Amino acid sequence: MKNIVISGGTDGIGKALALTYLIRGDNIIVIGRNKEKGKAFIEAANEIDAGTRAYFIQADLSLVSENKKVIEEIKSKFSVVDALVLCARHYRTTRLETAEGFEDNFALFYLSRFLLSHGLVESLEKADNPIIMNVAGPGADLSVIHWNDLGLEQGYNGGTALTQGGKLNDLLGVSFAGKHGAGRIRYVLFHPGTTSTSFSGEYDEPTAAHIVAMKKFGKPVVESIEPIVVIINAPPPEPLSAFVEGKRISVEHKSFDKDASKRLYDVTRELLVTLT
Ligand SMILES: NC(=O)c1ccc[n+]([C@@H]2O[C@H](COP(=O)([O-])OP(=O)(O)OC[C@H]3O[C@@H](n4cnc5c(N)ncnc54)[C@H](OP(=O)(O)O)[C@@H]3O)[C@@H](O)[C@H]2O)c1
Repeated sequence: MKNIVISGGTDGIGKALALTYLIRGDNIIVIGRNKEKGKAFIEAANEIDAGTRAYFIQADLSLVSENKKVIEEIKSKFSVVDALVLCARHYRTTRLETAEGFEDNFALFYLSRFLLSHGLVESLEKADNPIIMNVAGPGADLSVIHWNDLGLEQGYNGGTALTQGGKLNDLLGVSFAGKHGAGRIRYVLFHPGTTSTSFSGEYDEPTAAHIVAMKKFGKPVVESIEPIVVIINAPPPEPLSAFVEGKRISVEHKSFDKDASKRLYDVTRELLVTLT
């Protein structure tokens, strides 16, 4: 019986994984904003007699303060975390700043994953074969990062924000593995390919039409999670690895540059210090 935490585990790929692991007999914490979705998850758990192993934490992970609370709540429920699966994401056609002053996509898609990954190291290190599964879109070129304008104040575009966020997660993986690679935790970057999910987001009309097509032609979630389950069950031996639809891609590539990852780590620490 494993303890598994899934951000964005109330919908799409995260929810499918959560239900899979509940059926297998594991303890699951899912995190999301929407209370109704959380309730539906607990009801689904009760239906399969797994209610005592299912937890929902309601939180807005675009806020640093909420991530900190979530980390404490996870620690109070699970003394050991076997797997942290990062799936929360929300697309925005129009730029939005959080109450803490960060661009929303940067805050949710990257900063939350940074906080959860680093904040749960101690709990993960207590497991036999711990893994952080960061479900995003590894492999883009480093040039998609707007180093002097990470919050995209100039020329915001939802697609640009998403692509940059994916790359920031690649660099998060690189710096995390650099820092904790001598320990047990294996960091995996995973691109599921286009999958028919809820595509959480706020879209303008043309983008909404595109999303309808993606929902129609995307893979079913059950198919997308197959390779994720395989990797979580038997994490690769290397501290960092990356996969696109189950196929391994090299992280010994200049787009996973160590200097860039250090730069991002330092910038992130500075941004977080300004909040305290
Ligand atoms: N679907 C695809 O085609 C595709 C392709 C490439 C990569 N991916 C990656 O796969 C991962 C999962 O995507 P998906 O399409 O399966 O997700 P999804 O169906 O869009 O669900 C998103 C999840 O994130 C949660 N969420 C959104 N905003 C949140 C916030 N501020 N705080 C806390 N939780 C929040 C949602 O819960 P609430 O509704 O309660 O907020 C929901 O559980 C994402 O990281 C995505 O980048 C997906």
